[in-house]
Amino acid sequence: MKIVIPGGTGQVGSVLNRALSGAGHEVVVLTRRPAGPGEVYWDGATAGEWAGEIDGSDVVINLAGRSVSCRYTPANLRAMMDSRVLSTRVVGDAIGAAVRPPRVWLQMSTATVYAHRFDAPHDEATGVIGGTEPDVPDYWSYSVEIARCWEREQEEADTPHTRKVALRSAMVMSPDRGGVFDVLSWLARLGLGGPVAGGGQYVSWIHDRDFVRAVEFLVDREDLAGPVNLAAPGPLPQRAFMRGLRRAWRMPVGLPATRWMAEAGALALRTDTELLFKSRRVVPGRLLDAGFGFTHPAWPEAARDLVRRRRSVRPGAGTPPRATRTR
Ligand SMILES: NC(=O)c1ccc[n+]([C@@H]2O[C@H](COP(=O)([O-])OP(=O)(O)OC[C@H]3O[C@@H](n4cnc5c(N)ncnc54)[C@H](OP(=O)(O)O)[C@@H]3O)[C@@H](O)[C@H]2O)c1
Repeated sequence: MKIVIPGGTGQVGSVLNRALSGAGHEVVVLTRRPAGPGEVYWDGATAGEWAGEIDGSDVVINLAGRSVSCRYTPANLRAMMDSRVLSTRVVGDAIGAAVRPPRVWLQMSTATVYAHRFDAPHDEATGVIGGTEPDVPDYWSYSVEIARCWEREQEEADTPHTRKVALRSAMVMSPDRGGVFDVLSWLARLGLGGPVAGGGQYVSWIHDRDFVRAVEFLVDREDLAGPVNLAAPGPLPQRAFMRGLRRAWRMPVGLPATRWMAEAGALALRTDTELLFKSRRVVPGRLLDAGFGFTHPAWPEAARDLVRRRRSVRPGAGTPPRATRTR
């Protein structure tokens, strides 16, 4: 197949590109800074010659969006919103105008669309969309609003010959340098991987190989459209999640962090506490109903697999995701 991945130079794009190219597919990445074969220029916001890559392709997987690992200043929130909405709009326009449109458009969304919640998991049928929870900072509603606008752009796109799926993905855990697993592992290995603010908030995650397999499954399954949760069936409280990670690294100590310590740490790392404090309890209802089987459904085992693969990477080997190289 010919698979076009707008925004495919980052962490998730690198995971997909490696797997899909390795499986023999032709992968074309749309990027604002093409640097080699298989990369084509676009600006992520306006029509251009890049649309010729989409015309005649089989699958489009749009991942573009300004990184959410930043301080949630008004300017950064605006950039997070605009980069997602505008890129989705122009991808939809290109698919709608194609003479030979792709048969499926997988559009990245996020598990963050669901409410901050501890008592029960969110699946697609019964899950509660966030934005109106009491007792959370007002600005948290903005990242839910970004996710809603992002999905709405895809829903409203006029692409009658192309099936549309929104990927409500949890954190994708891959052993690559610069990814979320790498950052959490770094903290765990420093002895800082303890409970944060009590550690009761849920962490949803998906192993990189299951993420790729779920994407392949959704490409193949003509009967599936609309929002689909991409998350392992076993989300767990942050304190248990970090305990599993520490044990996988054989690190006996994990200092706890109070809320204010986490706030100071997030400031130092130029990231936002919503990523640490929001309880994301998301489960893959539709994937399981459709018969998808996870190879890494449970966290302690998945962490051990990722650590083993991380250890087998020689220092300096491989190319980190582009987004990491420039951040
Ligand atoms: N990583 C996860 O675990 C996870 C989980 C759920 C959802 N997501 C979402 O999935 C997508 C991919 O995640 P990722 O971790 O691979 O992100 P990433 O590493 O930050 O990469 C995103 C890509 O988007 C492009 N981009 C950035 N700003 C842009 C802009 N203003 N206009 C157009 N393109 C822009 C960049 O490509 P160029 O600089 O090459 O143009 C970048 O490589 C993101 O939208 C993210 O929010 C990620």
